Amino acid sequence: MIVRNVLALAGDGIGPEVLLATRRVMDWFQSTGRAKFNVSEGLIGGASYDAHQTPLTDETVARAKAADAVLFACIGGPKWDQLPYDVRPEKGLLRLRKEMGLFANLRPAIVMDALASASSLKTDLVRGLDIMIVRELIGGIYFGEPRGVEQLADGTRRGYNTQAYSTAEILRIAHVAFELARKRGKRVCSVDKANVMESGLVWREEITKLRNSTYPDVELSHMYVDNCAMQLVRTPKQFDVIVTDNLFGDILSDLASMLTGSLGMLPSASLGAIGADGRQPALYEPVHGSAPDIAGKGIANPLAMVLSLAMMLRYSFSLGKDADLLERAVQNVLSAGVRTGDIAEPGQIPIGTTAMADAVIAELTRLAK
Ligand code: IPM
Ligand code: MG
Repeated sequence: MIVRNVLALAGDGIGPEVLLATRRVMDWFQSTGRAKFNVSEGLIGGASYDAHQTPLTDETVARAKAADAVLFACIGGPKWDQLPYDVRPEKGLLRLRKEMGLFANLRPAIVMDALASASSLKTDLVRGLDIMIVRELIGGIYFGEPRGVEQLADGTRRGYNTQAYSTAEILRIAHVAFELARKRGKRVCSVDKANVMESGLVWREEITKLRNSTYPDVELSHMYVDNCAMQLVRTPKQFDVIVTDNLFGDILSDLASMLTGSLGMLPSASLGAIGADGRQPALYEPVHGSAPDIAGKGIANPLAMVLSLAMMLRYSFSLGKDADLLERAVQNVLSAGVRTGDIAEPGQIPIGTTAMADAVIAELTRLAK
């Protein structure tokens, strides 16, 4: 059986707890002979800064590139908020994305039946929701040059960043969105701010050309990002695949996550281009942050990371059946009313991180019989 080399990066806050829970689920897949993992751990974010004065060492970058996949939890916290930008925890993650070439960020927003009433929207608006947000991850204003802070003659300052997208950057993310749409509802909504920004105009025109030349079977629509934010809370089920840039994707994916009831439920996959050797760089991470307020208490919801593991099984290791099994186990556990605090409804007694992992493992065992 192929041994899959996984680099696990716990990061900060609740990271170590949710990673531990997820590693136990990985152990289940190993002990039942479904997969073989060689997992090693590394530091990122504040944890790396504390040990090495940098949020990501060259050594960790090299290990991430050599791994078959990276499983990453979350970074950041008040302890490191006052650091300069180039050593902030966030910088470690941004550098890792860039160095690994992870241009495509897949963020599914799926409402599981058992959680439909946990959404802040009316249940019938979100029941059955299944959106895939495809976010460009290593371009745009996050990385654009020039950027900086300059001192002005009058003693005040000016901070600035640059939003820019080239044809090549747009096309490679658009291909990912169209290909995904073909396996789903065959509809792509491209989101930009073409009414105000040149980068948005180029974005819109390049995607339209690509659709017409290569994906005539996929329906393409366009939306300005402000309208998209509004439509997402008005009638979210109108969307199938949304493709958008780095900044808009960051914002819209947080918005979409709340449609599902909890940020603690959403997984994501970040993928690069398939290399000449057939390998595809990949990193899997929950969409939630490090939740410093509940870190170390053993109450964090590990399901976003467990579901990120399912995405890893599906996208990196072609273990689609095992991914389905894991997603089914999570759904069944939720249907049985098992909840962590963030998704508990009135009358449900919240359980902790370890107990949630136990419940998922017990359900996997039951389903596998
Ligand atoms: C995300 C996060 C990151 C981002 C931060 C932590 C740098 O918000 O993955 O959405 O802005 O991309
Ligand atoms: Mg974000």
